[in-house]
Amino acid sequence: MTEELFEQLEFVENPLFETVIDDLLQQQYSIVDDFFSSEEVEILRTSLLAKYHADRFKKSAIGNRTNEEIDKTIRGDFILWMDEKNANEAELLFFKKINELVNYLNKTCFLGILQKEFHYAVYPTGTFYKRHLDTFQNDDRRKLSIVCYLNEDNWPCENGGELTIYTEKEDLDILPLPGRVVIFESQVLEHEVKVVKASERMSITGWLKTR
Ligand code: OGA
Ligand code: MN
Repeated sequence: MTEELFEQLEFVENPLFETVIDDLLQQQYSIVDDFFSSEEVEILRTSLLAKYHADRFKKSAIGNRTNEEIDKTIRGDFILWMDEKNANEAELLFFKKINELVNYLNKTCFLGILQKEFHYAVYPTGTFYKRHLDTFQNDDRRKLSIVCYLNEDNWPCENGGELTIYTEKEDLDILPLPGRVVIFESQVLEHEVKVVKASERMSITGWLKTR
């Protein structure tokens, strides 16, 4: 059997990932509810909170990691970059699932994702992230943005903190519901995080990059 044929036999279609790809092709974003189960969300939230309470988060900055500038009028979240090589059990679970998606995208889509970067994020009450694009002047490698919400079970509308995606058709308000994952084209869709009116908004945000 040739290697090529073997690879074809090995490929198993994944309906969830197929939906993501269809959505991205049609509208440049995809919203997947229950990407992470409630048990997985709880494990990831516990990991986030342990690190947050151990004071390991830093005030977020604008620009990329080598060109950072803090400006609270643009964004007010606190972040901690994740390190896959030193992942705890929760983070291993996280990266296993993300890597499944990345491998699938690479097999089916010719996106050529070679790198990824993810950080935990906490938005305390009163914070927001003004309308922006996820690409920087000196780094256009970010192709897909991925946001995974880790909030407690019911996040009522009154808490605010919606992710608003500005598409050509509409301004789409997305509640940060636990287990929900939003994927969108980093270079195309402007978006913002509306002010958090109550509670702490918790998430993991990251980017799939080329080259
Ligand atoms: C970001 C961002 C969106 C969200 O961190 O760049 O836009 O819903 N996050 O947290
Ligand atoms: Mn963003």
